[in-house]
Amino acid sequence: MLGASIMPQIAQKKLYTAESTHQTVLPAPINQEAVKEQIKSLCKKRNAVILAHYYQDELIQDIAHFIGDSLELSRKAAATNAEVIVFCGVHFMAETAKILSPDKKVVIPDVNAGCSLSNECPEEDFRKFCEKHPDHFVISYINCSAAVKAQSDLICTSSNAVELVKQVPKEMPILFAPDKNLGRWVERQTGRKMTLWPGSCMVHETFNEEAILKLKINHPEADVIAHPECTEVLLQYADFIGSTSKLLSYSQSSSSEEFIVLTEPGIIYQMQKNNPLKTFIPVPGIDGCNCNICPYMRLNTLEKVLQSLISLSPEISLNEQIRLKALSPINKMLSLSA
Ligand code: 13P
Ligand code: SF4
Repeated sequence: MLGASIMPQIAQKKLYTAESTHQTVLPAPINQEAVKEQIKSLCKKRNAVILAHYYQDELIQDIAHFIGDSLELSRKAAATNAEVIVFCGVHFMAETAKILSPDKKVVIPDVNAGCSLSNECPEEDFRKFCEKHPDHFVISYINCSAAVKAQSDLICTSSNAVELVKQVPKEMPILFAPDKNLGRWVERQTGRKMTLWPGSCMVHETFNEEAILKLKINHPEADVIAHPECTEVLLQYADFIGSTSKLLSYSQSSSSEEFIVLTEPGIIYQMQKNNPLKTFIPVPGIDGCNCNICPYMRLNTLEKVLQSLISLSPEISLNEQIRLKALSPINKMLSLSA
């Protein structure tokens, strides 16, 4: 019954072909304001909180109760009093929320919202890799599955990786997975050599040197700000490197008026909102394609958020043994990072 007044508006969005075989009818625009209102009232009824990552669509960022980077979202998920968490991000993030808050219902608007880093690090292959390095301290970037987290000694995010690696005793060899680009950047920041799993983010790997050079020529005064998932070649051009929220706060504190943004452009929405007089320039993907936009993150839509609140699905569920094993390195991260 709850859904009866809501569903017709979603139905309007379906692509359909006109009876005349020559004519394709474009989807009728959904009434976004009405959908937003329905989301708001359902959140109250369900005692639900919407957590969103900066790479989400602007419409989702607008309805979220909290927007953050992976570390901040984990902290929020652990602390919330809500009974339902609608996680607008990718699967590993929603899974982390469930690991931290097992008694809460955690739903993700689109269950196919995965992550190339997580996909490239299958549980069994990772187990074999760790077995080859039995004396290593295993640090996994949060962008991995619960099963990989369960095999790790410590979890990190891009905002605390350097700080955490520095805390590992010098004589202890480190295995770092699954992002080799983040791993190399951490190596340069800490002077620690690590054994790296060879994974990478499909979005950050699409940026190329030529595009940055062109932007730098056209905007010589601009600061280049980059996420550490970018390749080493590109990071050489960066004036500042950090997680999404660190990039956001740098864009506020820097006296620069122009920024070339080397990460998924979803973050620019908040940058622009917080700094209306500054200019933010996204770096295009190769050949100007849309591949600088994370295809996984953008599977979530406003309509799917509404649908997930109506049906309280797709729900994240986890094997309790894996959850408990994954919880320990996450808790360690939360207690060790500032
Ligand atoms: P942040 O932790 O910096 O938000 O990064 C998450 C992510 O997936 C970047 O691609
Ligand atoms: Fe994963 Fe890259 Fe998308 Fe982040 S941007 S969620 S690392 S695929």
